[in-house]
Amino acid sequence: MAVNNVKGTHDIIAEEANAFNYIENLLKQIAELFGYNEVRPPVMEYSELFVRGVGESSDVVRKEMYTFLDKAERSITLRPEFTAGIMRLIVQNKLLATNELPFKAYYVGPVFRYERPQLGRYRQFNQFGVEAVGNDSPEIDVETIALAYTILTSLNLEKVSLKINTIGDDESRENYKKALKAYFAKYLDEMCPDCHTRYELNPLRILDCKVPEDQKIVADAPKMKDFLTERARMRFDKVLSLLDEMQIPYEVDDTLVRGLDYYSEVVYEFHYVSKEGNDYGAIGAGGHYGHLVKELGGPDVSGVGFSFGVERLYSVLKDDNLLPPSLNNPVEIYVMPLGEVAKPLAMQVATELRVSGYRTDMCFEDVKLGNMFKRAERKGASFAVIIGENEVNNQEVIIKNMTTQEQISCPIEKLICKISELMGDECCDGECQCHHKEN
Ligand code: HAM
Repeated sequence: MAVNNVKGTHDIIAEEANAFNYIENLLKQIAELFGYNEVRPPVMEYSELFVRGVGESSDVVRKEMYTFLDKAERSITLRPEFTAGIMRLIVQNKLLATNELPFKAYYVGPVFRYERPQLGRYRQFNQFGVEAVGNDSPEIDVETIALAYTILTSLNLEKVSLKINTIGDDESRENYKKALKAYFAKYLDEMCPDCHTRYELNPLRILDCKVPEDQKIVADAPKMKDFLTERARMRFDKVLSLLDEMQIPYEVDDTLVRGLDYYSEVVYEFHYVSKEGNDYGAIGAGGHYGHLVKELGGPDVSGVGFSFGVERLYSVLKDDNLLPPSLNNPVEIYVMPLGEVAKPLAMQVATELRVSGYRTDMCFEDVKLGNMFKRAERKGASFAVIIGENEVNNQEVIIKNMTTQEQISCPIEKLICKISELMGDECCDGECQCHHKEN
C-alpha cells in the first residue's frame, strides 16, 4: 500500500516550487533594500523557548506545537513560528552588542502547527518575515509596515487591507485585562472550556475564541481603546500619522489583539480576498513586542516584525493571475542518443552545453526517434541534438530547430558556437570553440 504525506502537509512541485522561489526571492530582495540580512535558525528548538517566548496562554503553545522528547529525554519543538527563535539567536550570539541597532534580520522557511487543515491552513507551511530589534521608536514600527506594504505592492496585491490596532503598554494591558476578567466572570459558565483556561492564563486570548456562542459574548466585551494610557495612545497616534504621511492605507480595527502573547503596542494584519472570493485568512501579520528579548535572557529592548505566509501569498497570486506568465524553466536543448553507441558522446555534449549555460536534458531510454521528438516537445526544448552511429564516427551532431524543423550537421567542436548563433545569443564569429557564456 502506498504511503501518503502527513495530514495537513503538502507537496510543492515543479512550477509551483518556481512560484515559491519567485515569491521568496522578491521578498528577500525587498528586505535587503530595507537593510535586513538573512538569518537561518534551526527548525527545532527546546520547547521552553516557545512556552516562554510565544506564551503559555496562546493557542499555538497550548494546542498546536509539534513537541517530542529526543533520545536524551529533552523536550524539543518544531518551530511553530520564527520570532522566538530569532530572539534566541540574537541573544545567544550577542548580536545586539556587536551590531548597529536596530539589528535587522529576515528569514524564510517551514513552520509547524497542529491546526485543523482547511483552505489556506496547513500543518507545515512556510513563513517569510523580518524582525528589527533594539529600537523602540514608532518610526521603526512604521518602517516594518512600509516594508510589508512595498512587498505587497511589488507583488501587485494592491487590494490588500491593512488592519491595525494597539494593545497598549503594560499598564494599559493590565487595566484592560482586569476589565475583561470582570466582564467575562459574568458569562464564564456559558463559555467553552478553553475560555476557562484563557480566563485564568490571559483573558486577552478569549477575544480570539472561535466558538460562535462565545464570539457573541466577546462582541460586547470592553474595548482596548478605552484602557489605553495617554502615552500608549500618543504612540499609536504617531504610528497612524506616519502611515498617513507615507500614504499607506489602513483601517483601525479595535478588535485586533493577535494570538501570540509577546505583543505590546502596535499590532497589524494584512488581509486579501482574491477575485474568486477566496479568503485565506491573514496573508501576513506582525507587531511590536516589548519584553520578548528580556524574557529570553537578553537586554531590556523591544523589537518589531511581521511574517507572511508564503502559501497564502502564493494562493492569492495564483487566484488573481498575478504570477509571472513563465515561471517554468523549460529545457532549451534535448540531446537524443540513438542507441548505446551514442550515449557516451551524448553525455559529453550535454555536459558541454550545460557548462555553457544552456538548460539541457537528455533522453536516457532507448525509444524510437519520433518518441524522442515528442519528449523534446513536451519539455519545451528549442533544439534537439541528435547523435547516431554516423555522428559518433564523424564526431558531429545533428541540430534540429524544434520550431522550424530545419536541421543541420555540426562538428562537435563548433557545437557551442552554432547553438549560441541559432539561439540568437551574443557569441563569437562562429569560428572559435568558445564557451560563449563565459566570455
Ligand atoms: P502569525 O499570525 O501566527 O504570526 O503567522 C503569520 C502568518 O503566517 C499568517 O498571517 C499567515 O499568513 C501564516 N499562517 C499562519 N498559520 C498558518 C497555517 N496554519 N497555514 C498557512 N499559513 C499560516 C506569527 O507567526 C508572528 N511570528 C509574526 C511576527 C513576526 N510578529 C512579530 N514578528
